[in-house]
Amino acid sequence: MFFKKKINDTPRNIPGHIAIIMDGNGRWAKNKGLPRKFGHIEGAKKFKEIARYCNKIGVKYLTVYAFSTENWKRPQEEIDGIMNLLRDYLKDSTNFKGENIKLRFIGDKSALDEDIISLMEKSEAESNDATGMTACLALNYGGRDEIKNAVKQIIDDGIKSENITEELISSYLYTHDFPDPDLIIRPSGEFRLSNFLTYQSAYSEFYFDNVLWPDFSTKDLDRAIDEYNHRNRRFGGV
Ligand code: IPE
Ligand code: IPE
Ligand code: MG
Repeated sequence: MFFKKKINDTPRNIPGHIAIIMDGNGRWAKNKGLPRKFGHIEGAKKFKEIARYCNKIGVKYLTVYAFSTENWKRPQEEIDGIMNLLRDYLKDSTNFKGENIKLRFIGDKSALDEDIISLMEKSEAESNDATGMTACLALNYGGRDEIKNAVKQIIDDGIKSENITEELISSYLYTHDFPDPDLIIRPSGEFRLSNFLTYQSAYSEFYFDNVLWPDFSTKDLDRAIDEYNHRNRRFGGV
């Protein structure tokens, strides 16, 4: 009798930066005969669960897409519901308390309500000393909007064309102090980026899953990481 060595004895390579498009909240609620807002409530809870798990397994950066520059097209009632959920989340001082998670936001803050902007700044400041994972929420974020704003700022700063490099452009993006995402996960069965991390995703690995975001589990995340471990990233080399 002999024992076969288990394949998963080999240590996993945990992606340094995971980005997730938290999609499928509305369909999740609809499938249960509930108003869409219940999907957003469950989706927000799921964010906390997945963020905790990512921090536990050693992910350094987690960026989640929470509201896009295109999501303003939705009915006002749904937008108000999402913004109120965000308010509640930011006011909840128990979030990640003592968990050493640094909170950050990317996107165009100027379109958000004043009180939300202050709450965002307060949460960023309060978690400033955390040395664990950085959890970054993309709010009123659009990849094209981000590039447009970067171009405007570069021009306003009087930068000469010969000084424009890829690194310089990166340094003008909201994500200037984050590495590019290694793995981008989209649940809900859609195969598109929907304007997420347009510039930063040039060499990201993609993982698509049919599960709707409120049903996405730590096991689903593990599956995505396992799949990532089988990818051969060449970055244009051999
Ligand atoms: C993602 O879920 C949350 C936001 C875009 C704010 P959706 O609300 O897009 O859910 P579906 O795609 O309609 O199911
Ligand atoms: C992308 O989802 C934005 C977020 C998850 C916040 P959408 O539901 O807005 O994307 P589309 O409209 O299906 O492309
Ligand atoms: Mg959607």
